[in-house]
Parts: sequence; C-alpha cells; structure tokens
Amino acid sequence: MSLVNRRVLLVITGGIAAYKTLDLIRRLREQGAAVRAILTEAATQFVTPLAVQTLTGEKVYRDIFALTDESEMGHLRLAQEADIVVVAPATADMLAKMAVGIADDLASTALLATDKMILVAPAMNHRMWLNEATQANVARLTMRGIKCVGPNTGSLAEGETGPGRMAEPLEILSAIELLVADGPLKGRRALVTSGPTHEAIDPVRFLANRSSGKQGHAIASALAHAGAETVLISGPTAEPDPLGVRVHHVESARDMLKACEAALPVEIAVCAAAVADWRVEPAPQKIKKNGGLPVLRLEENPDILATLSRPGNLRPRLVIGFAAETENLIAHARKKREAKGCDWIVANDVSPAMSTFGSDNNTVHLIDANGVEDWPPQSKREVAASLTRRIVDFFAA
Ligand code: PMT
Repeated sequence: MSLVNRRVLLVITGGIAAYKTLDLIRRLREQGAAVRAILTEAATQFVTPLAVQTLTGEKVYRDIFALTDESEMGHLRLAQEADIVVVAPATADMLAKMAVGIADDLASTALLATDKMILVAPAMNHRMWLNEATQANVARLTMRGIKCVGPNTGSLAEGETGPGRMAEPLEILSAIELLVADGPLKGRRALVTSGPTHEAIDPVRFLANRSSGKQGHAIASALAHAGAETVLISGPTAEPDPLGVRVHHVESARDMLKACEAALPVEIAVCAAAVADWRVEPAPQKIKKNGGLPVLRLEENPDILATLSRPGNLRPRLVIGFAAETENLIAHARKKREAKGCDWIVANDVSPAMSTFGSDNNTVHLIDANGVEDWPPQSKREVAASLTRRIVDFFAA
C-alpha cells in the first residue's frame, strides 16, 4: 500500500528499541511518507538527532522552549500537520503521561495537542509492561481510540524474556498503512462474522463448537488492510481484536444476528462464524445432577447468512458464506449456497483429519454461480488475502 502524500509525526521516546525506529523511518520514506520526528531528551541517549534528521530529511524537533523551533514550527502545527502521530518506542513513562494528559515537554505537549490518529508501539521491561499501572494506562488510551501495536514477547534488552519488545518496524509500518493508506476497498463498508456462538443451557453451561475465530478474524483484518471500513461481529474467542477493525463481541446466535443487522448497510458481508444451528431454552438456575438425566429440547436458531442474503434494500452487494463439512464437501456447499441465497460460498473440510478448526491453515474451494475454484492449502491469513483480492476484483469489474 502506498503512503504517498501521507505525513507521519514520529515521537521517539527513550528506550533501547529506538534504534529500530531508524529502520521504521527508512521504510516509511520508501513507501512515500513524509516523516517529521520529535525526540524526547531521553531518546537522544539512544539515537542521535543527526541520525534521525539524516533519515527523515527534516529538521528534528526536541525542545518546546527553543524559540527558533517554535517560530518555525510550533507544537500545535507539528501536531496538526500530520495524518498520524506514531509513538515508537512508547515508554511506560510516556504512556502514563498520555493517559493522564501531562504535557511537560515537546513530545507530550504535541500528543496532547493533536486531534489526529495516534498509534503507540510500547517497549519496556516485561515487569513494567505487566504492571497494573501500565495495563490500566494502556486500557485507558485504547478506550480513547488510541491504537496500539505490540509489544511482542521475546528476549528483552536486560537478558530477560517476556512481553515488552517493541513491534518490528514492518509490523508498525503495516499498522500505519492500515490506519492511513488508501486501499482498493476505501469507501466501502464490510461486515464479517467470526468464531463460535455459545448457547446457554443454564447459568454455567453452554453448547458450543470448535471454531477459534482465526479464519474470520484474518478476513476482517485483510479487508481493513484493503481500506474497507470493517465491522467484525465475533463470538467468544481468544483471538485479539484486529487493528483498524470495529469489533462487537457477542455470545449467542441471536445476539450475533442483532449485531449484524445493526451494522447494516454494508456492501460486503462475509459470514465465517460457526453459528450454532440450535439453542435450548436456558434453565434459570444451575441444573442439578440429582434431578435425573436432563433433557435438552433444541430449537432452531435464526440463520444469519440467509437473513443477510434476503433480497431487499439492505442486502449487501456481495454476500459470502462459508460451508464447514465433514463429507461430500463440494456437493453440500453448493446446496448451501443455493439454499441460503448468498453469492459465493467458501467450502472447507472440517473433519478431524484436516484439523481446520483452530489451526493456522486451511484448504478452501470458492464456489459461485459459475462453478468451483480449488485453492491450494494456505495459511488462514493467505486465504483471507486471496479472498480479499477476489472481493477487490468483484468491485472493480
Ligand atoms: O474459526 P476457525 O478455527 O479459524 O475455523 C474456521 C471455520 C472452519 C469455522 C470457518 O472456515 C468456517 O467454515 N465457518 C463456517 C462454519 C459453519 O458454521 O458452517 P455451516 O456450514 O454450518 O454454515 C454455513 C454458513 O451459514 C456459514 O457461513 C455460517 O456462518 C452461516 N450460518 C450458519 C448457521 C446459522 N444459524 N447462521 C449462519 O449464518
């Protein structure tokens, strides 16, 4: 994705990971972005202003009280003349300042003064990262809409291991692209369902299935990377919310349907969730063992894919379902496409031998009105990227 005409204000704070930020600058410029940098006093202990100036090709800003800096480029202008403000590395100290709104140097003042999108790439010792105070600060920033990439888990500067390594320059670049680049689906809205649903039996038990949400989440992320304004309706999963995607967490099929209907209108809908076909009327109290064997009376859940596919004003232009089968994959998937009325259906074999549920890989077949395309075995991310390319082609045609 191109970052031509995009302006990045990079705030470099004082951590050893600052050396990686030099590589980030190089990569941003390769993509066409203009980069201005603010260095905190502590950052200058790790990277020199000259190195940053050479790589950005711009004056480096450091001191809020430097009269020349203020006359040439005040902190308000610095903060405003950017499409995105990126803090990399973001120390625990800077995250804390941002959380409470302290503005005691040029970097924190610019961060308080901006109304642009902010992305932070935390980097610190793992105990500092896991400290309740830091976690609370990050939660507060996230609630405010500030985006966070990383930190990764691995060996840290002090020879210890844990979460706290700054995300790699390519990961930060990808997050920046996601937030500000123009993708081929820019201006289009997409809805994705993912993960299982849980259908309560009583207050402590539920019916569920083996979906991990990996495939659906990867698709939401790929669509967002392609520029679509993406809403993900996710059942209970351990997958993190994809960056740049609005996520609604739901439990049951009926909640998922409600959330999908509330997200309309969209032009693209991808139903990758393994929605429970049946539910039971939940018992108000925990069912006791001494009452004899309980009988579960199943009722049919609403079909979300079929509902979205129904003709009408709110029908997305492209509705894509998935078919999870353990036998006669193609024949069953074809029937499902017709019965539910979606445009395309992505068939995958979920028999235990294939370990599709929960794994990182998937072998799929794309079925539309014209026939079947067999795709090679791929990672779920690659399946998501291939499907997104097909969606882009559909809208380009
Ligand atoms: O989550 P992972 O571990 O990564 O695994 C990925 C996956 C196997 C779950 C995914 O690739 C997949 O196949 N998702 C669809 C699972 C499913 O429920 O398939 P189905 O054949 O039972 O349903 C057909 C379609 O109808 C699906 O698009 C499903 O979302 C939809 N459906 C089903 C029932 C229902 N009540 N409402 C629905 O919308």
